[in-house]
Amino acid sequence: MAEYTRCTTAIFQLARIVISFHKLMSSMPNPDVLIPAVDLAAFAASLLDAVGVSPAKSKLVAESLAAANLRGVDSHGVQLLPYYIEQLEWGDMDARADGCVVSENGACLLYDGQNGIGQAVAEICCRHAVRIARNHGLSMVVARDSNHFGATAFWAQKISAAGHIGIVMCNASPIVPPWQGREPRVGTNPICMSVPGGEKAWLLDMATTTVAAGRIFKALINGQPSIPSGWAMDSEGLPTTDTQTALKGLLMPLGGYKGSGLALMVEILCAVLSGGAMSTELGGIRIRGKQVRVSQTFISIDIARFLPLDEFHARMGQLIGSIKSTAPAKGYDEVLVAGEPEWRMEQERREAGVPVGPGTWKALCEAADRLSVIVPSVA
Ligand SMILES: NC(=O)c1ccc[n+]([C@@H]2O[C@H](COP(=O)([O-])OP(=O)(O)OC[C@H]3O[C@@H](n4cnc5c(N)ncnc54)[C@H](O)[C@@H]3O)[C@@H](O)[C@H]2O)c1
Repeated sequence: MAEYTRCTTAIFQLARIVISFHKLMSSMPNPDVLIPAVDLAAFAASLLDAVGVSPAKSKLVAESLAAANLRGVDSHGVQLLPYYIEQLEWGDMDARADGCVVSENGACLLYDGQNGIGQAVAEICCRHAVRIARNHGLSMVVARDSNHFGATAFWAQKISAAGHIGIVMCNASPIVPPWQGREPRVGTNPICMSVPGGEKAWLLDMATTTVAAGRIFKALINGQPSIPSGWAMDSEGLPTTDTQTALKGLLMPLGGYKGSGLALMVEILCAVLSGGAMSTELGGIRIRGKQVRVSQTFISIDIARFLPLDEFHARMGQLIGSIKSTAPAKGYDEVLVAGEPEWRMEQERREAGVPVGPGTWKALCEAADRLSVIVPSVA
């Protein structure tokens, strides 16, 4: 009898240990999956193919998303794909539309995106921008009725890859109040400028809010209950660090009224000028039954019209050198220039692979399952 009691006690203890271990494991966040960028892009392209996007457009969108992940800008990487797929399946975005030139006058071109895929519209607009700047020294291409085009840097880099300075902006769904307001009126309206020049290059790509909205969605998708202070406000306009409250609330304009001013500048140069949707007229990638209707502006500057290229690059080197030689403030090892954190991350991720958050990976796998797409193996 004593032997029997000892045995059952041991079994109960073992069961308790197994249950607590299981509870511990399930309470721990799942780790990121690690995948080479080319495999990630191929997976993203297959998902888009499966919802009827042409292979060329699928490849372009997939490349733009994987490029953002490579640079560490995960808010604008494959995390966006499930929303793009939903937009396509609901008919809120038209995979077949290519858009058309509305007018071209000297250095100015107006494009109608016709609700086509944002990346496809942006690719065409970048080509027009570089072509026109080669003729005129400068160009400004403004697209209306476009869709989300991912990270702005991808497009400004297309222009700088052609040897020009690229400036790209877009308006976005209204989730930001003007400074001192508590109702959304503008988007996170990013501004990006890319200067060519290898080591002496400079690439600023920033939302006009403290952070892009996707950073808060990344926290939500991957089960992070809180976000850093200064990112968002609740619906009363008071600062919050709670992820859920932030998503029901508003994003914080960058640096107070200055961010509001920059967001309006973008809204004017994109939406007012294009004749497209403005402010609260826009939809959003997470809103169904409504077209997004963003406007995007692409500026190309032919450096050689101002200064011999060698001289420009020497002067850029001098400027960047001067910035980087600044003695670091207490608590820092060095001074960085815009673009540097992402270039370093890209080098790292090219070697180690791209980490994809567990929530994002789950959403991609669910879409793959539903669309009968093969999921690549991951570490
Ligand atoms: N398509 C859209 O509708 C949309 C809207 C908003 C934002 N976005 C995108 O969101 C992405 C993220 O934007 P964000 O504002 O959160 O970016 P961020 O705050 O991470 O970085 C902004 C810029 O600051 C630079 N930077 C970062 N640390 C630095 C340092 N220590 N020293 C010097 N420079 C430094 C970066 O190189 C980058 O150019 C961007 O790619 C943007 O285009 C897209």
